Amino acid sequence: MSNPSLLILPGDGIGQEVMAEVRKIIDWFGENRDLKFDVSEDLVGGAAYDAHGTPLTDATMAKAQEVDAVLLGAVGGPKYDDLDFAVKPERGLLRLRKEMDLFSNLRPAQCFDALADFSSLKKDLVAGLDIMIVRELTSGSYFGEPRGIFTEDNQRVGINTQRYTESEIDRVARSAFELARRRNNKVCSMEKANVMESGILWRDVVTEVHQADYADVELSHMYADAGAMQLVRAPKQFDVILTDNLFGDLLSDTAAMLTGSLGMLPSASLGAPMENGRPKAMYEPVHGSAPDIMGQDKANPSACILSFAMALRYSFDEGDAATLLETAVEQVLAKGIRTGDLMQADGGTPVGCKAMGDAIIAELAAS
Ligand code: NAD
Ligand code: IPM
Ligand code: MN
Repeated sequence: MSNPSLLILPGDGIGQEVMAEVRKIIDWFGENRDLKFDVSEDLVGGAAYDAHGTPLTDATMAKAQEVDAVLLGAVGGPKYDDLDFAVKPERGLLRLRKEMDLFSNLRPAQCFDALADFSSLKKDLVAGLDIMIVRELTSGSYFGEPRGIFTEDNQRVGINTQRYTESEIDRVARSAFELARRRNNKVCSMEKANVMESGILWRDVVTEVHQADYADVELSHMYADAGAMQLVRAPKQFDVILTDNLFGDLLSDTAAMLTGSLGMLPSASLGAPMENGRPKAMYEPVHGSAPDIMGQDKANPSACILSFAMALRYSFDEGDAATLLETAVEQVLAKGIRTGDLMQADGGTPVGCKAMGDAIIAELAAS
C-alpha cells in the first residue's frame, strides 16, 4: 500500500519558518516510527502570487483535493496589503476552505500547566483549561452574497451578507455534538439571535438537531457578545463552543490568549468523509504570518506542530503518535524551553524557532 499523502503549503512570513520545523518532525516519524508520508510542497498566498500572479493556482487547488490531508502555514503580510482584493493572499486560503468544503473548523484551546502563568488571565482561571471551539468555516458573512463595494447616492457602500442555510447549520452542529460526546458532553452554541435572523435560524436548527439525535449532550445557548465575556470571565465553564464563521474567528483568537500565546493554537478544518472514510482535511495554526517577527527565527512553531498532531489523529488514525507529539511539546515547555512569545513573565532567555523544533525532536527521541 502506498503511504498517505500530505500536501504542505507553508505560505508566507513565519508560515515558512514554522513549517520547516514540522517537516523535521515528519521526517523524524518516518525514520523512527516507520510512519511515512508522501509529502509534496507547493505555494499559497503571497508566495503563490509572487510566482504566478494568483494566491492559489488551479493546479495547487486540484492537488489539495486529491491528497489525504493539507497542512498550511500562514498567508498574508504588508507586502500584499495593496493588491486587488481578488488576488490577496487570504483569498487563496479562503478558496481552499470553500472548494474543499471544510465546514467544521476545530480550534482547541488547551492551557498546558507550564504555561498557566503566561496567560493574560489569572492562573487559576486557565490552569487545566481544555475547550474546543467549533467554527463554521465555509459560509456566513465570509462568503454570503451580495457582497462588494458599490456606489449608492454618490457615496460608497461596503456590503457583506450573513447568510446561513439550514443544512449548513445542521452539519456543523452535528460535528460539535459528536465531538462533545468524546469530551465532556457539553455544547454551548453562540450567535446573536436577539438581533440577527440568521442567529434565530442558527439557534432553532441547533436545538432541532439536539432534540432529534443528541439529547444526551448538554446544550446551552449564549449571545456571542455575552459568550466573549464569559470566555474571559470563567473559561473553564465551557467544553465545546459551537459558533459561526465570523464569531468563531474572534472567539478563537480570544481563546488563544487563555493558553498563553497565539503561537500555541492549532486547528483542523474538516469536511465530509472521503472514500477512505476519513474527512477531507486541512490543518493550520490559528495564527497568521506575523510580519513583525518574520525572518528572525523568533516564531513559536508549536501551533503548526500541534496542527500536524491533529492531522495524525483526525486524518491518519494515529492517535498514539499524536499524543506522543503533543506530550513532547508539553515536556519541552515544562523544561522552560520557550520562544519569545512566552517570555514576558519569567524573563528567561528565549530560544529561536529552529531550536524549539530541535528541542521537540530531542524530546521525541528520548520518549
Ligand atoms: P498574526 O497572527 O500574524 O500576528 C498577531 C501577533 O501574534 C503578532 O504580534 C505576532 O508576532 C504574534 N504571533 C503570531 N503567531 C506567532 C507565533 N507562532 N509565534 C510567536 N508570535 C506569534 O496576526 P496579524 O498580525 O493580525 O496578521 C498578519 C497577517 O497574517 C495578515 O495578512 C493576516 O491576514 C494574516 N493572517 C493569516 C492567517 C492564516 O493564514 N491562517 C491567520 C491570521 C492572520
Ligand atoms: C484565521 C484567519 C483567516 C480568517 C484569514 C487569514 C482569512 O484570520 O484563520 O483565523 O479570517 O479566517
Ligand atoms: Mn483569525
